[in-house]
Amino acid sequence: MPIDTHSQNDPLFSCDDTGPDVVTVYFEDLPIPASAGSSVAAALLVYGVVVFRSTPVSAAPRAPYCMMGVCFECLVEIDGVPNCQACLTAVREGMQVRRQQGPATLPSGVKGAGDVC
Ligand code: FES
Repeated sequence: MPIDTHSQNDPLFSCDDTGPDVVTVYFEDLPIPASAGSSVAAALLVYGVVVFRSTPVSAAPRAPYCMMGVCFECLVEIDGVPNCQACLTAVREGMQVRRQQGPATLPSGVKGAGDVC
């Protein structure tokens, strides 16, 4: 699935991603620069990503809404772990982020994604 971008090709948000405190995260295998300390959701939105997951029933596209951990619209897969809240997870160098398609189950032995994302 291609990365969806803002309809006017301008991201909704912007930040300085050229300074020394920049890490590289990978979204659907594409490298994107992100300010260290920012959330995954903020980094993806700055990059122009507008679809983070699809719903389990209708496969409707969803994107972050509250940006504070309440709505769960920002669920993504991070480093192979599904159900990670992108708005509450800080970027890390080399982090692999993927869209979450439909329902996801946690790997066996994991009680909550909050401890592993
Ligand atoms: S945007 Fe609402 S929980 Fe992440």
